[in-house]
Amino acid sequence: MKSIACYNMKGGVGKTSSAVNFAYLSAQNGLRTIIWDLDPQGAATFHLGMDPLQAAKLKKLVKDKKLIKTLIEPTSYENLSVIPAGFEYRNMDLVMDDSKKSRKKLKKIVTSFEDDYDVFLFDCPPSISNLSDTIFSTVEFILMPVVPAIMPQQSFITVKEYLDSMDDATAELIPFFNMVDRRKSGHRKIMWDNRKTFPHIFCENYIPARADIEKMGMQRAPLHVFASKSDAARAYSFLWKELMDRTGIEAGGK
Ligand SMILES: Nc1ncnc2c1ncn2[C@@H]1O[C@H](COP(=O)(O)OP(=O)(O)OP(=O)(O)O)[C@@H](O)[C@H]1O
Ligand SMILES: [Mg+2]
Repeated sequence: MKSIACYNMKGGVGKTSSAVNFAYLSAQNGLRTIIWDLDPQGAATFHLGMDPLQAAKLKKLVKDKKLIKTLIEPTSYENLSVIPAGFEYRNMDLVMDDSKKSRKKLKKIVTSFEDDYDVFLFDCPPSISNLSDTIFSTVEFILMPVVPAIMPQQSFITVKEYLDSMDDATAELIPFFNMVDRRKSGHRKIMWDNRKTFPHIFCENYIPARADIEKMGMQRAPLHVFASKSDAARAYSFLWKELMDRTGIEAGGK
């Protein structure tokens, strides 16, 4: 099983859209896929047409890995399950107080899914906190959407430097560009500069800025479900294929 977080400390950069689309594509590849919506906003839960958790007892939940399994819901898509968001997750950061203990707990939870799933995805809230520290030392890969503009670029560098400085971060950072507008010289320049400064880190494939992606909210569905022929869907398919190669995920299981 591969454990992956869609993460950026910056808000509104495409973490949720990407997590939902990657989860869907993974499931379509025949991989048993689960997405844990860690954001109290519950956008991934919403986009998958599901309801948020009612008053999940967060402390108990994090302590007891058996309890978390009772929260798994199948989606209407084959091979794709979700652990829905709950508003209580706003306190997740407080629950993840003692870092070493929290890390152990989350790792145990993720490990307990090994036999039943091939891909475990987290949709993370936008912050840098105890929770993100715990995620960094739990998952194998961090998929990070980066908008090719000055401030989002700064966030990428901040997170990268922070990850490099952490002793116990296990995750490999895999950034990719999102909301790209090739007509903008600034976008082209930032993409070029990053690829030169961080060779082999950024994905070759990127996601263009497209209204079809925004429609996911209205459709409450992954992009491929309602716009499979769009160039945004094609871009996601190419990017997912590249990510499978980089993370060692093989279609059809394990
Ligand atoms: N490539 C894209 N082209 C156009 N719109 C996009 C693209 N990617 C994401 N969006 C839109 O941008 C908004 C933010 O996207 P999303 O919710 O995925 O970001 P996020 O990083 O998860 O946000 P948050 O930090 O609030 O959790 C949404 O309205 C989404 O539809
Ligand atoms: Mg989000």
